[in-house]
Amino acid sequence: MMQSYPFVVGLVLLFCLARLGYCKVGARYASIKQYPFQISVEMDNTHYCSGAIVGDQWVVTAKSCIPQNTTEVDRVKVRAGSSYLASGGALHSVKKLMRFKRSSYDMYRHMNTDISMIKVEIPFNYSPYVQWSNPNLEELTTKLKFSAAGYAKDRKKRKTRLQMVSLKNLHRDECIDMFEGKINITGDMGCFVGATKRDDTCTMNVGTPIAADGLIYAIVINKDYCKSNGRHPVIVSQLENSSGTIVQTMAEFIPRTF
Ligand SMILES: *[C@@H]1O[C@H](CO)[C@@H](O)[C@H](O)[C@H]1NC(C)=O
Ligand SMILES: *[C@@H]1O[C@H](CO)[C@@H](O)[C@H](O)[C@H]1NC(C)=O
Ligand SMILES: *[C@@H]1O[C@H](CO)[C@@H](O)[C@H](O)[C@H]1NC(C)=O
Repeated sequence: MMQSYPFVVGLVLLFCLARLGYCKVGARYASIKQYPFQISVEMDNTHYCSGAIVGDQWVVTAKSCIPQNTTEVDRVKVRAGSSYLASGGALHSVKKLMRFKRSSYDMYRHMNTDISMIKVEIPFNYSPYVQWSNPNLEELTTKLKFSAAGYAKDRKKRKTRLQMVSLKNLHRDECIDMFEGKINITGDMGCFVGATKRDDTCTMNVGTPIAADGLIYAIVINKDYCKSNGRHPVIVSQLENSSGTIVQTMAEFIPRTF
């Protein structure tokens, strides 16, 4: 009886890993605990975008993820703390929608900022599943290990859940060349590609925060050019401090020092 104990434990462990999806090559399911700052922006009761918690009541997302009319707060909800799409976690009502404004001395960059912010009514209830993240205070470098949470159908194909996507930051010139004639890459914009072929950038939503070492560096603003199973880029808006303004503007609203 005693001798079979390690064998049984081994079997149980293997079974559990298989159930969790770790044994399947190609799918790297993630838990919200790995990306506790990631939230889902729901518009008119449907998952619409992703975003990131940056303060007790504040979320950063892409500009296109909130209604044109920022007084329509009732149309938007924020779901925090769930590994699954459109279920679980805590659903927060919205108090304020804010399209990002640049200060007047920064007019040129203003036009290229595709960020908006959402203030939720009731502060986030922090736990291993719900945490804020700091925006980084440095520019993007190609050396960091970036990743983000996309969404994939689970093995039973009943639910859609988080999946990890490893990412590589493209050199700015490469990004500009890639979109020549399609999109002008200016101001705070940049590109990320999947780090390997199995890192499918299409599984990420607009508004998805891209992180390295727990800090968020950029927000996906356009995934029209992603292609499944290839290293095709998504366009992001950076949150870097070289322009200073995003971090400063956030600081005006968020009672916390960056
Ligand atoms: C914005 O939405 C509010 C509330 O629904 C409405 O009263 C207002 O007229 C809208 N404004 C515009 C410019 O559409
Ligand atoms: C890019 O910028 C140039 C110069 O401002 C402009 O002529 C061109 O139409 C822009 N292209 C796109 C795709 O927006
Ligand atoms: C961020 O940028 C602003 C404006 O350029 C600057 O005043 C501030 O010191 C910077 N903060 C950090 C942490 O680098």
